[in-house]
Amino acid sequence: MQPIQAPFPAARARRMRRTPGLRALSAENSLSVGDLIWPIFVRDGENVEEPVASMPGVNRLSVDRVVLAAREAADLGIPAICLFPYTGPEKRTEDCAEAWNPDNLSNRATRAIKAEVPEIAVMTDVALDPYSDSGHDGFVRGGIIVNDETVEALVKQALAQAEAGVDIIGPSDMMDGRIGAIRSALEAAGHSDVILLSYAAKFASAFYGPFRDAVGASGALKGDKRTYQIDPANADEAMRMIARDLTEGADAIMVKPGMPYLDICRRAKDTFGAPTYAYQVSGEYAMIAAAAQNGWIDGERAMTESLMAFKRSGCDGILTYFAPTMARLLR
Ligand code: PBG
Repeated sequence: MQPIQAPFPAARARRMRRTPGLRALSAENSLSVGDLIWPIFVRDGENVEEPVASMPGVNRLSVDRVVLAAREAADLGIPAICLFPYTGPEKRTEDCAEAWNPDNLSNRATRAIKAEVPEIAVMTDVALDPYSDSGHDGFVRGGIIVNDETVEALVKQALAQAEAGVDIIGPSDMMDGRIGAIRSALEAAGHSDVILLSYAAKFASAFYGPFRDAVGASGALKGDKRTYQIDPANADEAMRMIARDLTEGADAIMVKPGMPYLDICRRAKDTFGAPTYAYQVSGEYAMIAAAAQNGWIDGERAMTESLMAFKRSGCDGILTYFAPTMARLLR
């Protein structure tokens, strides 16, 4: 693009900004409810809604309440919700067997939603961290997170989710080779329509803190995730990971976290042109929600501005805990 600009006063940028109508006419990007994916925390029990302390306004919901949330989301026009199970210490084991239990919380929630609100797309997370006693996304052997053995478990987890009826599987584990392995297993099992939205560019970030509280992983996690998540210093590496996952059969890719990595979003979209999503993660949500709660920023405007930033950066959609609030505001 080669912008041509006459010298002042022939050119006056403020002419196009004078009224709301003129500003709308010259807006380059727009945000709509169709851009939103709503991450939801699921927990055991019935009729339970339990606040997550570090995420003001966000609750862990029992399966019956998740179905109501899915109904609300569909009525608001939100196209997809993403499930994250909270697992207490008693269901966390070294072998992570709960991950591929056909009746685990995530799979029960998927079935319940698909029965009651079939029009909403259900997305689930593939990674072992909700089920491992170590809080890691893979198996730990002698202090090392082992790759290939973990991928075999992730395949079982993904197949169980597909059996339960999910529309979108989001591998967030960052093991090497998992997209290809999951894609072949899905094809072999006849799940050829299941979408793989790869957390391809997932960085080792401090912004996941509140999420780990929400899913019960904070207490469990020993060490950090730097041997599998990307170093925040690396952009070329993120591009290589995205290229790799697309080559292995990912339908769409994600950049995570969002706001500190908008350069990655833009580069990813310009380089690959694939469906590109950003995850505005728990820590980003917490910063905006907490500052707004204290009256330090205007919460609605900060939310809207932060989500528009993803559209401006080339994203096709955003996973955000603000999804229902933003959807209501857009109506
Ligand atoms: C783990 C997973 C994480 C998130 C989604 N899946 C946390 C992590 O990698 O430790 C974070 C989401 C958020 O912070 O909102 N498989």
